[in-house]
Amino acid sequence: MKRWLLFLSGFLVLVTTACRPTPPPKATEIFVVTAVPTATPMPTEEIAPTEVLRVMTPTAAPRPTDTPQPTLTPPAAPLDRITQGKRLGRGVNLGNALEAPREGEWGMVLQAEYFRLIAEAGFDTIRVPIRWSAHALKDPPYTVDEDFFRRVDWVIQNGLENGLNVVINMHHYEEIFEDPAAHRERFIAIWQQIATRYKDMPDNVYFEPLNEPHGNLSQDSWIRLLGDTILAIRRIDNRHTLIVTGANWGGYSGLQSLRLPEGEENYVCTFHFYDPMLFTHQGASWTGTGYQTLGVTWPGPPATPVTPDPEAAKVSWVYSWFRQYNTYPAETNPAGPKPIRDAFDRAAKAAEKLGCTLWLGEFGAFEQADMQSRVNWTKFVREEAEARGMSWAYWEFGAGFGLYDRTAGRWREELLRALIP
Ligand code: BGC
Repeated sequence: MKRWLLFLSGFLVLVTTACRPTPPPKATEIFVVTAVPTATPMPTEEIAPTEVLRVMTPTAAPRPTDTPQPTLTPPAAPLDRITQGKRLGRGVNLGNALEAPREGEWGMVLQAEYFRLIAEAGFDTIRVPIRWSAHALKDPPYTVDEDFFRRVDWVIQNGLENGLNVVINMHHYEEIFEDPAAHRERFIAIWQQIATRYKDMPDNVYFEPLNEPHGNLSQDSWIRLLGDTILAIRRIDNRHTLIVTGANWGGYSGLQSLRLPEGEENYVCTFHFYDPMLFTHQGASWTGTGYQTLGVTWPGPPATPVTPDPEAAKVSWVYSWFRQYNTYPAETNPAGPKPIRDAFDRAAKAAEKLGCTLWLGEFGAFEQADMQSRVNWTKFVREEAEARGMSWAYWEFGAGFGLYDRTAGRWREELLRALIP
């Protein structure tokens, strides 16, 4: 554990350790999702700007400054962060669309009807993963492309018109995980533009600074960057609720070292949950050789032992995981309920210390697992989250983990019922 003095506010950060085992390099995800294309070309009339959104046409992006300026005075009636967290309720991620390098490249183009379907199914919230970094100038002033902004306007508008809360995030800014220092200024400048554009949105629009910080964006550097970004946002928008996560892929362990700038009160804490990865990510091309054994059921032990594929068997932790999975009774099985309960207890404890509501912003099991196991796991995780007062958003609507079968034009009922009984 180390201590760092933040140059702007002088508060302390604490540092802890890892959570999510394997970085999913998303480039290969392109392969997976394009295998089930249902994309229709993006209708041009759908990206028209709207009167509902009183958006400002961005001028040049404001430059982040090294001279600390006072944040805006807090709103007269600030939002209550606990209420804002609870309000997120039950949600779904609109995954594989706007966080692909270009919308459609991963086989998913958002359609107006999806928002209606999601609302009618009983969801409260959409989380919108967005790869802003692919749509902003590489050099100062890092201007975000106006057409892309209009597309995001359209998504927000459709969410709001259907009565959904909308979480706007920054997803797959891969370059910042490689070289955080080189991308700090650009990252903050992009957030300044987002805040400027959406500062007059209703209170049920939320900003999530970064999805799953990892790589060279270590615990320390992430907490510093998060603090600087929050201060920059707050100079523009002191109204909207921020959704904050720890480093190490945004898992529950990262929550323990999460710190916010002094005086920041309006935030919801988030973490992602995919354990056991050998079940939820079996056969996912982006997770690498350890994860290619199929037939992993949940909960364990399986009726007949599962033999790890030859490549996976060479990875020692994977080999021993399978040995336990095949032989341990339900109470101690690594694919049993206990590790999930324990993880959620730890997450809840960390959130209690931070005084925030927890939002389980992603969880889901990939389509290669059998449907009954996916249903079992999804229902169990959702119930454990709700039992601890967490709001949640399933990963994701209509691609590889999808609740909605876009080819057939219908919900995967069993999976949907695991979430919304
Ligand atoms: C990432 C997604 C990914 C999902 C499943 C998430 O953490 O944000 O891009 O598809 O995990 O691996």
